[in-house]
Amino acid sequence: MPCTVITGGFWGDEGKGKIISYLALKDRLDVCVRTGSVNAAHTVWYLGKRYALHMVPAAFVNEKCRLLIGTGANIHVAQFLEEVEETKVENRIGIDYQASIIEEKHSIQDKTNAHLKGVVGTTGRGVGPAIEERVRRSAKLAKNIPELQPYLADVAKEVNNAIDNDKEVLLEGTQGLMLSLFYGTPPYVTGRDTGASAICSEAGVGPTKVDDVLVVFKAFMTRVGAGPLPGELSKEEAIKRKWFEVAAGTGRERRSAPFSFEIAKKAVVINSATQAAVTKLDIMYPQCKSVRSYEELPEEAKQFVAKIEKETEVPVVLIGTGPGALDIIDRRK
Ligand code: IMP
Ligand code: MG
Repeated sequence: MPCTVITGGFWGDEGKGKIISYLALKDRLDVCVRTGSVNAAHTVWYLGKRYALHMVPAAFVNEKCRLLIGTGANIHVAQFLEEVEETKVENRIGIDYQASIIEEKHSIQDKTNAHLKGVVGTTGRGVGPAIEERVRRSAKLAKNIPELQPYLADVAKEVNNAIDNDKEVLLEGTQGLMLSLFYGTPPYVTGRDTGASAICSEAGVGPTKVDDVLVVFKAFMTRVGAGPLPGELSKEEAIKRKWFEVAAGTGRERRSAPFSFEIAKKAVVINSATQAAVTKLDIMYPQCKSVRSYEELPEEAKQFVAKIEKETEVPVVLIGTGPGALDIIDRRK
C-alpha cells in the first residue's frame, strides 16, 4: 500500500519503532516521515545495536529510504545532529523548512512549571512550551537555523510526489491516542493531538491519500507520568509478570496494566484504523519468543490475538515476538 500511517493505540511505548523498522526492511519503504518531537523515543534494535531515536525516523534501518521530518514537528537541533551522526543518514534525511524549533528555554520552562512537571508529569523536554511559542507565532523555524540549512526540504511536496508516484510511504506517529490533547485524559496528555489525522496534518498529507492506518498495541499497557491507567498493577505484580519497564527516553519507571479491549476499540475508531499490530507477545507468553509463524504460537496466545480482532474488528497483521526488527509474525497477504 503506498501510504500507511503508524499510530499508537495506548500511551506511547507500544513498540512503534520496532514495527516501523520491520516495515522499512520488509516493505522496502521509499519514504518515512516522522512527526512529533523529542519527548518520544522510538526504540529500534538492529544488527545487535539498540537505538533510542528522538528525531530520526525509525525507518533509517533501510539504507534506501528517504527520511523526512514533517512541518508539524518540533526540532531539537543538537539532538537531531547527534542522531544523524549516530545513524549515518546525513545524505538522505530532510527537515521541513517550516518545522519549528525547540530550545533549551522551553525545556527549562517545562521542568520548572509546577503544573506541567508537577501535575501533568511531562517528560521535561520542553515540547508543550515550544508548541505554545509556535502558537504565539514567535517560534524559530528550521529555515532560520544555520546548522539545518543542508537538511531543509519541502516535506509536504516531497511526500505527496512520492505517493502520486506509487512509492511506499509511511507516516510515523509518536505517543499514543490516550496521550492525545483531544482524545486522551486531559490534563494528563501531551501538547498535541496524536491521532492518525494529526499525523497526516503534520506531514502534509490529506485523508484521501492514506491507504492504511496501522494502530500499534502492546500486549499489556504501560504509562509514564500522571493520569488514569485502568487496571493498574502494583510495581511488585508488574515485576512478577515481567511487565515492568523503564522509559527509553527519560529513564522513568513505567506503570503497567493488562490490555484494555475498550481502549483498543476507541483507538481503532478514532484513528479509523484498518489494521493492528500487537507487540511483546513474548513477554505475555514466553513460549512465543522469536516465533515467526502464527501456527507455532501457543493456543492461549492465539486466543488473545483472536479476541483483539473480535473486539476491535480489525485484523492483527503484525505480531512482535522479540526485540529485534525481524522478530515478527507477518500475517499480511
Ligand atoms: P510531554 O509530552 O513531555 O508534555 O508530557 C506529557 C505526558 O505525555 C506525560 O505523561 C509524559 O510522560 C507523556 N509522554 C510524552 N511523550 C511520551 C512518549 O514518547 N512515551 C510515553 N509517554 C510520553
Ligand atoms: Mg517511547
